[in-house]
Amino acid sequence: MKIISDPYVLKEYLKSKRERIGFVPTMGALHDGHLSLIKNAREKCEVVVVSIFVNPTQFLKGEDLESYPSKIDADSKICEIAGVDVLFLPQVKDIYGEDEVRLQAPDVRGYVLEGATRPGHFNGVLTVVNKLLNIVNPDYAFFGKKDAQQLNLIMLMVKQLFMSVEIVAVDTVRESDGLAMSSRNVYLSTEERKDALKIAASLREATKLITQGERDVRVIQEAMLQILKPLEIGYVAILSREFEYIESLRVGESIILVEVLVGSTRLLDNIWV
Ligand code: PAF
Repeated sequence: MKIISDPYVLKEYLKSKRERIGFVPTMGALHDGHLSLIKNAREKCEVVVVSIFVNPTQFLKGEDLESYPSKIDADSKICEIAGVDVLFLPQVKDIYGEDEVRLQAPDVRGYVLEGATRPGHFNGVLTVVNKLLNIVNPDYAFFGKKDAQQLNLIMLMVKQLFMSVEIVAVDTVRESDGLAMSSRNVYLSTEERKDALKIAASLREATKLITQGERDVRVIQEAMLQILKPLEIGYVAILSREFEYIESLRVGESIILVEVLVGSTRLLDNIWV
């Protein structure tokens, strides 16, 4: 596995490749969710590039930028074992200059749900993903469905900026108890982890109701809120896959998203129904 830190060196190195390039951008602290993205990239592409870059512009003031889990040595071993060809490890100074051109998330989709609780967060995500895609110039880039709003906005950016990469959405990987994998799960105490399981339980309840034929969004939402109630709820939203609010759920075209604060840890989960 080649390790490259300089964006221009990486660009030059990948330019000579004639095979399909698959790209998995990450912020490190790799877990099975990331491994699943890498596996998908490995299956589809001859060259697999993973980046680890904790992007400062997507953290708001007071968020966990300074304490974000960092495990570069363990992460590079994981990448090597997973058959990654190139690990891209840039520094902040390699990615950002002084007077920056930045991307702006769309006014509606970028400022609802997570964009409402973390205003400006998606500007940082889109800016860095755009930069990373320009550096790697992959045929395919792989993102997890767990961060559904991020995924939706990245797909929109690729479409609206006429970019040629194909975005591949990969299913959420869960712990054996149902908790969606996230690098931030390490912040949870034993007690908080128990509370966090209410998120998956609320989504299971939604699935049960839908299987029984329920389509009224308010009824499904209310049942989920009952399960989540003791926790600090960011949102429980039932939307179309285009992120529009709906009153009646259409199977195969909808998404149910939850954001909950457990202790001081913000956890996201969703199901595509
Ligand atoms: O999902 C993440 O880990 C980050 O938001 C991403 C896409 C790597 C951009 O920093």
